[in-house]
Amino acid sequence: MVVDLEKRTYLLVTGASRGIGQRMAVDVSAKLKAGSLIVLLARSEQGLAQTKASITALGNDLNVITFSIDLSSATATQFQELLAKSLDGTKASNFERAFIIHNAGSVGDVSKSAIDVSDTTVWQQYYHMNVFSVISLNCEFFRAFNCLPKIVVNISSKCGIEPYASMSFYCSGKAARNMYFRVLATEQADEDVVVLNYAPGAIDTDMTVLVQRESINKELAGFFKMQRDTKTMLTTEQTTKKFLLVLEAQKFKSGDHVDYWDE
Ligand SMILES: NC(=O)c1ccc[n+]([C@@H]2O[C@H](COP(=O)([O-])OP(=O)(O)OC[C@H]3O[C@@H](n4cnc5c(N)ncnc54)[C@H](OP(=O)(O)O)[C@@H]3O)[C@@H](O)[C@H]2O)c1
Repeated sequence: MVVDLEKRTYLLVTGASRGIGQRMAVDVSAKLKAGSLIVLLARSEQGLAQTKASITALGNDLNVITFSIDLSSATATQFQELLAKSLDGTKASNFERAFIIHNAGSVGDVSKSAIDVSDTTVWQQYYHMNVFSVISLNCEFFRAFNCLPKIVVNISSKCGIEPYASMSFYCSGKAARNMYFRVLATEQADEDVVVLNYAPGAIDTDMTVLVQRESINKELAGFFKMQRDTKTMLTTEQTTKKFLLVLEAQKFKSGDHVDYWDE
């Protein structure tokens, strides 16, 4: 089956203020039909305004709304209110499809090993941002767009399926996220719902800069440095292009984990 993105779509992207989420928000928007509504979430109002300006500049009659929200403390009520506010009285059935990209993510404290952090509040905060908020927003999204066909994308990582030293927060959070979306895909198998866990590859963004600077995993930090120095690290444009190819061709089974480097 092929996914035709040219529909009147309600598109929500988290972590849309910079990095991969910003690029995906713009490049996916470019494919949508006039009258689509793009909802952008992150903390930085400035970054969100930049993304909004890039989407508006596409000139294809899209509506763009931004919400500054901290996902490390967000609640289901906030998500409910945000979704209702974004619709502003428009019925969900006014759209042909609802599309969500759960992109926001943080890498956690990569200066620590898996046996260093016993403080449960640190883990709770990390998991609230990277797992609990994702699940909560996804539940509210499904409630709000019950009547519509849906595309649900989880921006995953190779770290969700393979262990890397210094990445106990990140690897465990991504693994939990992957499995949540696999369960979702299984439960929604008879519905018009496509779920994709997409691993973008190592990308030149703030996240890999942080890992390169702070990780106790010298091999990984050195690998990122080498890629940066030789300008061989993948860009947000490259991974978004591949993401769109994967999604539109839809050769994957709903719920699958597809990596940038997969055939
Ligand atoms: N870069 C890579 O090599 C790589 C590889 C595999 C997977 N990924 C995944 O790709 C996704 C995007 O990563 P990236 O590299 O683009 O990272 P990034 O440049 O650090 O961007 C992260 C995004 O998440 C948002 N965010 C972070 N903390 C937030 C919070 N507490 N509340 C709300 N939003 C928050 C940021 O916005 P604000 O700061 O404005 O809030 C930003 O828009 C992540 O899920 C990451 O795990 C990245």
